[in-house]
Amino acid sequence: MTNRPLDCRNWCGGTRRGDCADPARCDRRSSTPPGAGLRRVAFGVVAGAACLLAIALEPAAARDDPSAPRDTAVEARDVSTDAKDVPAEAKDASKNLDVPYEGSEPAAMAAMMELARVGRDDFVIDLGSGDGRIVINAVKRFGARGLGVDLNAKLVDIAKRRAKAAGIADRARFQVQDIFETDISRATVLTMFLYPGVVMKLRPRILSTLAPGTRVVSNEHHLGLWRPDAARVVKSAEGRDGVVYMWTVPARMAGLWIWDLGPSNVSDMTLNYRAKLTQKFQDFGGEVVLGLQPMTVFDARLRGAEIAFSVSGEIGDRIVRHDFSGRIKGNEIAGTVRLSGGVVQTVLPWRAWRAPEVLK
Ligand SMILES: C[S@@+](CC[C@H](N)C(=O)[O-])C[C@H]1O[C@@H](n2cnc3c(N)ncnc32)[C@H](O)[C@@H]1O
Repeated sequence: MTNRPLDCRNWCGGTRRGDCADPARCDRRSSTPPGAGLRRVAFGVVAGAACLLAIALEPAAARDDPSAPRDTAVEARDVSTDAKDVPAEAKDASKNLDVPYEGSEPAAMAAMMELARVGRDDFVIDLGSGDGRIVINAVKRFGARGLGVDLNAKLVDIAKRRAKAAGIADRARFQVQDIFETDISRATVLTMFLYPGVVMKLRPRILSTLAPGTRVVSNEHHLGLWRPDAARVVKSAEGRDGVVYMWTVPARMAGLWIWDLGPSNVSDMTLNYRAKLTQKFQDFGGEVVLGLQPMTVFDARLRGAEIAFSVSGEIGDRIVRHDFSGRIKGNEIAGTVRLSGGVVQTVLPWRAWRAPEVLK
């Protein structure tokens, strides 16, 4: 996808909307094709810096995780990744869709599987599945189940035939469907190799539909200001640098939460807390009020449904640090809080509830 003409039928990049043969389709597309590489991905200084930080941090994080699959090389016997194995007429049938066909390269596919830590319990949905290589690879090599959707019926046929030939047609399904109309709620891993404008258009649905903890991986294009949790530079067969990004869908943390600490049967020893939190993607912050005392949230972390944050405030004549950690399930959080201050050091169970709107 490197030498496409500057024509919005193939690529909106460099073409002014008014010059396009099909401005409506141009609006739905983006400005950069999937194969364009890091330098062309310029969503702004903040997003770029966040992505570079993720790239810098990723290898250490991946090494530290013992559950990360080790052997992720994509082998020819699993699924062909050879461009010539997809007939030109099948590729051409994608030309006028939101994104033309190009298969993810083996290195990118391996990085997608590895960053998403695809495993036996996963259900992988590939939006715009092309010849089916992503889903077939996830099923064959990692024991997952999956669904690929593509509007190009010729490519869907190829994917189905390949899954059948590999003996995994029951676990790797493919259907002709628009990515914008696909129910993605079942995915535990969502994969994409699309255009920047297309992935950005999908972003609100990804955040509102997918369960907290779902991994989202994108070959080449990032999701704007939603900072990736990991990213990896991959080399194409021709030696071009590309980037694969991974995000974990965060739980909804924003709002008002309430909880008590202390013996519930001794009311004058019970401490009442209210937290007012704001959130942007996986980042959150705000204030916890203990009685009438406001305490600023620090060291806040949110990964999927796992939450942790700290506050410090006065209890009696001591400054007591509170380190909360727990898991969000809908409108409840269950976990523990470590209280430390002076010689006091204790860990208590912690249960918080999302307060009704009227209390806000
Ligand atoms: C760059 S290819 C990616 C193929 C495959 N996911 C991979 O990584 O090898 C993009 C695919 O999206 C499909 N596509 C484009 N617009 C679509 C839409 N609105 N709904 C479904 N599929 C679409 C194209 O037919 C093409 O096969």
